[in-house]
Amino acid sequence: MAGEATLILDGQEYRFPIREGTEGERAIDIQDLRARTGHITLDPGYGNTGSCESAITFIDGEQGILRYRGIPIEQFEQAPNFVEVAWLLIFGHLPSAEEYRIFSERLTAYANLDESMKHHFEGFPRSAPPMAILSAMINALSCFHPDFFELEDRDHFQAAAAGLISKIRTIAAYAYRHSVGRPYIYPHPGQRYVPNFLHMMFSQPYAEYVCDPIVKDALNLILILHADHEQNCSTSTVRMVGSSQANLFASCAAGVCALWGPLHGGANVAVLEMLDRIHRGHISPEDYVRLAKDKDSKVRLMGFGHRVYKNFDPRARMLANVAEKLLPTLGVRDPLLDIARRLEEIALEDPYFVDRKLYPNVDFYSGIILRAIGIPTNMFTVMFAIGRLPGWIAHWWEQAQTQGNRIARPRQIYVGPGVTDHVPREARV
Ligand code: ACO
Repeated sequence: MAGEATLILDGQEYRFPIREGTEGERAIDIQDLRARTGHITLDPGYGNTGSCESAITFIDGEQGILRYRGIPIEQFEQAPNFVEVAWLLIFGHLPSAEEYRIFSERLTAYANLDESMKHHFEGFPRSAPPMAILSAMINALSCFHPDFFELEDRDHFQAAAAGLISKIRTIAAYAYRHSVGRPYIYPHPGQRYVPNFLHMMFSQPYAEYVCDPIVKDALNLILILHADHEQNCSTSTVRMVGSSQANLFASCAAGVCALWGPLHGGANVAVLEMLDRIHRGHISPEDYVRLAKDKDSKVRLMGFGHRVYKNFDPRARMLANVAEKLLPTLGVRDPLLDIARRLEEIALEDPYFVDRKLYPNVDFYSGIILRAIGIPTNMFTVMFAIGRLPGWIAHWWEQAQTQGNRIARPRQIYVGPGVTDHVPREARV
């Protein structure tokens, strides 16, 4: 125990223990608050509520720190490997050569979807939002893998995790192929995780997509930078659903739905749409920034600001470097990148943004990079989901392993009418 907090209610004093995390974060432990005092806490949006103890990811938003299992995010920049990071998040340490080999083999073994799942894609309209397809198809996976409902031990869980991480990539690529009316391309057993995804997205039956190493590294890094962000909306959703002992696939399908919203995973799409609007409308970056500062305009500089990071978003810095290198190498001259750079320059010197600690976030550059790779805008949030999946799995498993885990069930303050009599329909006015 790291001290006590005293609460005085109606003249009576109650003491609650203070819990301290390994990085000095402190919390008042109120688990028995209601039982002892008859009161609950009210915290809409949960901004002051710790829902669990977790050993997966540490964030210090004031100092721009993000660490996976203690490793600073910047250290994944050299030779980025998404599969290794997925393992790290889920199992708590970097994989040994043998662990990596077994996990990679499982990823390959599970890459295909049951053949009859292809018919499910056919049932969706071409214009269906890919996030809806993704969530529906992850849920549908449960029907094909009842063997993963009850996970008996760590090895069984590892097989389920590998299956899901591998299949989300195939589902995402098939959703895209369906939307553009192209034939599905089966996963290639000789390809690594990221090149295999790009192969399924962009190969043609008559022409194989060749993955440039710089593209492979850029996409690996994007997926890594999205892989976990502690108790965000979608991860909390996965934990909430998982707390009812719903299976891994059902819980992660719910996570996809939570990520879909524009305030969460949809923000990188909003950045691209903003840049496109500026470009097509021949609006100068200076005028757009002026608009974003005007409260009456209801315009925000998308890709700027973050609920947690109040100095800089370390992920944005890394992606800015990637964009600088990737685009010239691919020979992409993207006017939207020029606009993004100019917006950043202006905003970083403008007292409005400096005083409010508004800096570029991860979404500011990820959209530009995905676009340069050839990923269509409506697939951006799907890419985020592929990246975030290891984090969801890690949290689902951590919770499942926690002794005394209880179903998540917040309370409320009821503000509706008092006891009211039912009125028969014929007597209603
Ligand atoms: N452009 C212009 N003004 C902004 C912006 C912005 N992008 N972001 C915040 N502000 C202003 C607000 O108007 C407010 O000004 P005020 O104090 O004069 O009223 C002040 O900065 C604080 O804003 P809040 O909304 O209270 O900040 P909060 O921390 O709650 O919101 C958020 C963070 C939602 C990310 C916000 O900065 C925003 O809307 N940004 C644009 C959308 C975006 O990029 N979202 C992606 C987030 S990253 C992710 O989800 C992976």
